[in-house]
Amino acid sequence: MFDVATILAQLSIDEKIRLLCGKDAWHLHGIERLDIPAITLTDGPHGVRLSESQALDDSAQPATVFPVEAAMAASWNAPLLEQVAAAIGDECQSMGVGVLLGPGVNGKRTPLGGRNFEYFSEDPFLSGAMASAFVRGIQSQGVGACLKHFAGNEQETRRFLINAQIDERTLQELYIEPFAKVLRENPPWTMMGAYNAVNGVHACQSSELLQRILRDQLGFDGLIMSDWVAVKDKVESHANGLDLEMPGPAERDAQLLAALADGRLSEANLDNRAGRVLTLIKQVMEQDRTVSIEWPAHHELATQLAVESMVLLKNESQQLPLSAHQRLAVIGDFARNPRFQGGGSSHMQPRQLSNTLSAIEHRVGVVFAEGYTETRVSPQQLDAAVKAASEADRVVLLTGTTDSMESEGFDRADMQLAPDHLMLISAVADANPNITLVLHTGSAIETRQFERQVPAIIQAWLPGEGGGEALARILFGEANPSGKLSETFPLRLENNPTFETFPGTKDTVDYREGIFTGYRYYDTKLLPVQYPFGHGLNYSQFTLADLSYHDEQRQVSFSITNQGPAEGAEVVQLYIHDETSTYHRPVHELKAFQKIHLVPGEKRTVTLALDDHAFAYFVPHLGRFAEESGRFELRLGFSSRDIRLTSWVTIDSDTDVRLLPTLDDTVKDWLADSRTAPILQQELDRLQFEPGHPMYGIALGFPIPQLIQFIPQMGYEQNEADKTRKTLERGWQHLISRTQGF
Ligand code: BGC
Repeated sequence: MFDVATILAQLSIDEKIRLLCGKDAWHLHGIERLDIPAITLTDGPHGVRLSESQALDDSAQPATVFPVEAAMAASWNAPLLEQVAAAIGDECQSMGVGVLLGPGVNGKRTPLGGRNFEYFSEDPFLSGAMASAFVRGIQSQGVGACLKHFAGNEQETRRFLINAQIDERTLQELYIEPFAKVLRENPPWTMMGAYNAVNGVHACQSSELLQRILRDQLGFDGLIMSDWVAVKDKVESHANGLDLEMPGPAERDAQLLAALADGRLSEANLDNRAGRVLTLIKQVMEQDRTVSIEWPAHHELATQLAVESMVLLKNESQQLPLSAHQRLAVIGDFARNPRFQGGGSSHMQPRQLSNTLSAIEHRVGVVFAEGYTETRVSPQQLDAAVKAASEADRVVLLTGTTDSMESEGFDRADMQLAPDHLMLISAVADANPNITLVLHTGSAIETRQFERQVPAIIQAWLPGEGGGEALARILFGEANPSGKLSETFPLRLENNPTFETFPGTKDTVDYREGIFTGYRYYDTKLLPVQYPFGHGLNYSQFTLADLSYHDEQRQVSFSITNQGPAEGAEVVQLYIHDETSTYHRPVHELKAFQKIHLVPGEKRTVTLALDDHAFAYFVPHLGRFAEESGRFELRLGFSSRDIRLTSWVTIDSDTDVRLLPTLDDTVKDWLADSRTAPILQQELDRLQFEPGHPMYGIALGFPIPQLIQFIPQMGYEQNEADKTRKTLERGWQHLISRTQGF
């Protein structure tokens, strides 16, 4: 295998520059005279979309289509996801793909995000954990992952132009953290810069993002590529940290030559970037191998993940599981033409597409009515659906979004199903109240319009090529549902904290809701939601007991028992609540979870390890994550609103996060801080200025200089005021020298 430095030394400036941009949409430049091949990159993230064309047509080679990322996260099964990603890695190897363009770990500020289906979760811990498993799985097969889109790409509206205005704490805690967690645990070979700007600078040319955060803070050492046609100023991009512009062919090489000539770009910089491209090519070459794929096994893996991701939102009057003796009506074109993936760059060609109708017919006889074509319901379709429903014991109605409602490239207009679908649901439920509604959407929708009429709902996401079979297994109780919401279903769009600010003005979207998104917002505000984060029912019953915390190892342990009739899995979620903090925090945050599979009657003791960020938050004035001493409540449960066990722990931190009150702050500030309080209190005692004094309440709001001015008016000589001023100044000087200036 070649040595990067040796090759670099043999390259001309032109050859090095050529390496900095793709050869075409899906290949890098090789160097023929040195036998360096043109490696292949392709989309991602939920399978391999290998196409010769840039167009998003159906020319891609067939490969296994796994559930979309939102569904992957709803499985809360990181080991299974690792297995899935390894299978994707194998398929990449068999198709000659060296880097898969995924996973995506952008956030979900609002359910309207057009690519929410392609991202894991509203929670950075869950996103990071699932992405980390994904990267580990794919790279275990010698294929590079590409973590995308760095950063602040939380919307599709004007994504090439919009400036995401995000304060440092929000950026770090919510939008960088999923990337950071992956980088700490399983660094990807590559990362992709986003289209948008962050705080005024385009992501692919931002030294703040690429150099300060990605390289210096997070220590990323792999290759940074641009999103497709995201580079605005080529020279600025490479000067500020971008290694590779995609796609090719390059049209602006002359600009780099000019920049080298006039010193805007150094040769060392060029060598650094070209060296990273060569390192990636070398990694791909070294790990390249011949693989033959067990396609049926991959299809089954896709089916298993789909099973584990489907969320039983409600199941009143034991609608589910269905029994083979019931007369069943299946309604909805999605049962025949599955809605199994989203639109845009992740759109794939499946190898073997299962559909719900055949999967059910394989088990029982059914009456089928198509119900709708895309978003429209014709009078004939409505009549046939109502007739089928009224003659059945049980009805399964499949609905959801279409590509015209939810896709890469634009954000959703609202959170609702198509009006015709709502009308169909209502008419069918009127005809037969024993109805199970199946939702094929990539993101949260409003369900309040039909909640009263529909006793059972399954959130089936965009479940990939095994979705039909997976749904049948769940409907008939062959599999016990175990998916949990990876995002909150709010009651209505208006309750979302970005309702007033999304998708921003023409130029800017202001992340004004800060760190309060998803359940961090709804739970802190005590707002009712339709279905909380982490929610999902099953056909059994699990209980938790024996919560304990092991200080030394930073572990939480508990026991879980399956007390119900069915074998199944529960996802135990640990949220941490900070009793008091210098900066405002959400009421609780997810910090650990595990999916546990148990047969009926089985009991197991489980230990969850907490990572360095479990009690910490990003402290703006320190510029890093830090723990603050104090009491924290461990909240263990089955959703963010279904906490079963709690326990308080005390954390002693070396870091004092508190900002020392300054000599211009108020009397109240000084008295509230245990460091300044004794100094001031001693003076107040000396002056006999006590709570009973008529001016005491007002004086609490006085800044320290005003308090000192006020002393003579309390009947003291001026020298008493001077004495107080000196004592406070001396005491404060002493403190500030011990607190590194904070
Ligand atoms: C998307 C990326 C994708 C790339 C290549 C872009 O439009 O934002 O996620 O990997 O195209 O298809």
